[in-house]
Amino acid sequence: MAGTKRHLLAVPELIARKREGNRLSDKDIQALIAGFMNGSVADYQMSALAMAIYFRGLDFDETVAMTLAMRDSGTVLSLDELDAPKVDKHSTGGVGDKVSICLAPIVAACGVTVPMMSGRGLGHTGGTLDKLEAIPGFRVDLSVREFRAQLRKIGCALIGQTGDLAPADKRLYALRDVTGTVESIPLITSSILSKKLAEGIDALVLDVKVGRGAFMKTEPDARDLARSLVRVGTLAGKRVSALLTDMNSPIGYTIGNALETSEALEILHGEGPDDLRHLTYELAVEMLRAAGIAQTKARALRRVELAVSSGDALQKMRQIVGAQGGDPAVVDAPDRLALARRRSTIRATKAGYVTELDPLELGHTSMSLGAGRSRSEDAVDWGAGIRLRVKRGDEVREGDPLATLYASRSALLEPAADRAASAIRIAKRRPAPRDRIIATIRR
Ligand code: URA
Repeated sequence: MAGTKRHLLAVPELIARKREGNRLSDKDIQALIAGFMNGSVADYQMSALAMAIYFRGLDFDETVAMTLAMRDSGTVLSLDELDAPKVDKHSTGGVGDKVSICLAPIVAACGVTVPMMSGRGLGHTGGTLDKLEAIPGFRVDLSVREFRAQLRKIGCALIGQTGDLAPADKRLYALRDVTGTVESIPLITSSILSKKLAEGIDALVLDVKVGRGAFMKTEPDARDLARSLVRVGTLAGKRVSALLTDMNSPIGYTIGNALETSEALEILHGEGPDDLRHLTYELAVEMLRAAGIAQTKARALRRVELAVSSGDALQKMRQIVGAQGGDPAVVDAPDRLALARRRSTIRATKAGYVTELDPLELGHTSMSLGAGRSRSEDAVDWGAGIRLRVKRGDEVREGDPLATLYASRSALLEPAADRAASAIRIAKRRPAPRDRIIATIRR
């Protein structure tokens, strides 16, 4: 306690020390986070520290200290009573990223316990919780008791972050969001891992996105983030690996909550877009390997394919949806999910090949239709969004449909149509194909 007090008195000096590019000790960092939580470090001081870290960085040991201090700011769950290996997946956020919704039941059907805690959409990227809530009745706010009971019974639960898991991150992220300090590798590392390390998992697979629709715009930056997450997570005692994946075009054909959930459910039926299936299976394979259930990639992939072709993954999803209060009939008939009534189709103004489907612009367009939120208290329209009718590399003729927009109010359609049209580029030459999976990063 005396140590904490001594450190708290030195907050301006600690900020200045980091501003000058010097190291903070483990104790400094613990005291800063403890002070932030008890109110003796003010929000403006924490914001100034975040800006100093943004410019000066944190070294590996400082990042570990920051991660652990934030993890320990709230409850650290233990799921040790569950025998099966417990593995979660976290994506750094993309457009059309509905992977968690099909991935979790597939991996759970392979015998892994999947305690999946997801977030809401903010900015141009959607959030898994909003997509799940497009299923009538589906509850993402299970109590810790309900969460444990469901994991024991079904082996999978899809929920939101409980309030007392890494609360320091929640508060710090809110400050970073409004002070231009989000895009910092050590701050992103400690933010993501503090929450995931508090979840009671054995292993974590990360999907680190790179490209125009991602936080990390360049491959070197995304690799640095992936390496940082893997190293810090491993030091904290978890098996952590990362896939580096391309986010220069949306995943699948849909953007928006009900549209995306419906497409994710198609994967469980053995249907749906190839790129979504490919990414989901690659992440599932990595999760099975992290769980120690399959030693080779080929075996893991066979297991994943069998989970889908046998109907086990579909059955797992029926159980999850039923247990969380949703209508399980939706799992068998994804087209029952309600879509917004006002629609508009944009068409190609010339013949050629689709060379670009700008995910950032399409994400913002989907938001403007009502599918996303710009402030955390905004409501989302589950039925709004975009159904792309083409993929990058497709050949189109003049007048062919490129995308259909969905909104609840006609007035939203026209400006969105202009924006979506400018996000889809057509040229004479077919573009070179791009692989969705760029690299796998393990320790
Ligand atoms: N996601 C998080 O949870 N935290 C960050 O800092 C960035 C993305």
